[in-house]
Order: sequence, then structure tokens, then C-alpha cells
Amino acid sequence: MQKRLWTKPAGFVFRRLCRSPNFRKRAIGVLYEFEFRTWCAAHPCEESPGRLDLFRSIADREGLHGPIDFIEFGVFRGESIRWWAENNRHPESTFVGFDCFEGLPEDWESLPKGTFSVAGAVPDIPDPRCRFVKGLFQHTLVDWLEGRRFTRQVVLHLDADLYSSTLFVLVNLLPRLRKGDLLIFDEFVGYFHEFRAFLDATTAFPMEFEAVGHDADWIRVALKVV
Ligand SMILES: C[S@@+](CC[C@H](N)C(=O)[O-])C[C@H]1O[C@@H](n2cnc3c(N)ncnc32)[C@H](O)[C@@H]1O
Repeated sequence: MQKRLWTKPAGFVFRRLCRSPNFRKRAIGVLYEFEFRTWCAAHPCEESPGRLDLFRSIADREGLHGPIDFIEFGVFRGESIRWWAENNRHPESTFVGFDCFEGLPEDWESLPKGTFSVAGAVPDIPDPRCRFVKGLFQHTLVDWLEGRRFTRQVVLHLDADLYSSTLFVLVNLLPRLRKGDLLIFDEFVGYFHEFRAFLDATTAFPMEFEAVGHDADWIRVALKVV
């Protein structure tokens, strides 16, 4: 009798809460945060203070001064792709940046759709090794990949922030990666987005990774295929 007094109203409140998309999102977020903290604790690796220190540290430690295929998803004004092109001078390296250049295609956390728009303008990087593929990844990547084989070490820079965008890229690219290739997540700490996409994609394509570096608070993480 006492039990029924409790369970009825509790069940009613729970059902009401479950109807709220915000509540469901928060509840799922808590689970992914737990997974994220557990994952980080299980993958100790060298810490760098910030993004460029992390780039420099993995470029030096992983010997990324030879020929690489740097592929970036999420270019915006080109800060990160420019850094890689300026810091890897090998004539056979290639640098390809994918972006719609119209900003985020969906709301992301507190940022509305369209944030990071540069009104379609592609960065001006006067380096013939650098190319841009303009459009939504979902419209451009599959065609771009058709008939393409990676022969150099791949460095994949994932900086699209969103779960949907990152998941799409990973599902298409993970099966093509080989031992020694690197993935850098720019917003790994966004456990509801990039980290969730990583977990979900590696459920579909189980692969072994070694964490080779992270920056403060695990905002960014670099992983190597082993
Ligand atoms: C955080 S910004 C990239 C920042 C950049 N790497 C830098 O160093 O400044 C995220 C970018 O991802 C792009 N983006 C996100 N999802 C996309 C998608 N599905 N297709 C195309 N572009 C996308 C947005 O247009 C935006 O420019």
C-alpha cells in the first residue's frame, strides 16, 4: 500500500519528464559524460596546453614532417589547415578542407545554425598543395572518395562540432584508415557530439586506437590507428 502511494506519482512525473525533449537530451548527455570521463581515464597520454601545442607535439612525436594526406572537416577561416600546410613543407603532402562555408547546418549547444558562416568564401591559402571541397559533407564526401586510395599517412582533422556531421565523416572514412593514420578531434569534450560520434562509429567499425595526445581538459584528442 505504502509502495503504491509512491510509485504512482513518481511514474506520472517520470512519464511527463520523458515527454520533454530537453529532459531526454540532458539525461542522455549525463550518460555520455560518464562514458567520456571513463574513456579519458582509460587512455592516459601526453598533455599539451592548447591546440597549436598539441598539433606541434604530435607532428614532432609522430614524425608528421614527411608526406601526409591532411583531410579536414570543418574549415571556417582556415586557421587549422593553414597551420598544417605551413608546418609540413613536404612537396608531396596534400591538404584538403571540406566545408559548406555557410556555418553549422544545425544548432550546436548554445550556438545557432549558421554560426561560423563566411558566406561561402573559401580561405585564401596560396599553397598549390591545398584544396577545398565546398558543400555539405553529406553531399560531397562520397563522390570525392570514389576511386580514391590513400597512399600517404592520413591525418584526419575533425572540427565540425556536430554529432551528425562527425558521424557521417567517420562512417565513411574509418574503413579506409590504416595502421599509423591519425585522427584529431577538435571538440572531443563535446561528449554529446564528437565523442558520441566516435563511440557510435567505432561500434559499427571496431578498430584499435592509441591516444597520442590531448590538450587541457581533453578538449582536443589525437588518436593513432594501431
Ligand atoms: C568550428 S568551425 C571549424 C574551425 C576551423 N577548423 C578552424 O580552425 O578555425 C566548424 C565548421 O564546420 C562546418 N560544418 C559543420 N558541419 C558541416 C557539414 N555537415 N557540412 C559542411 N560543413 C560543415 C561549418 O560550416 C563550420 O565552418
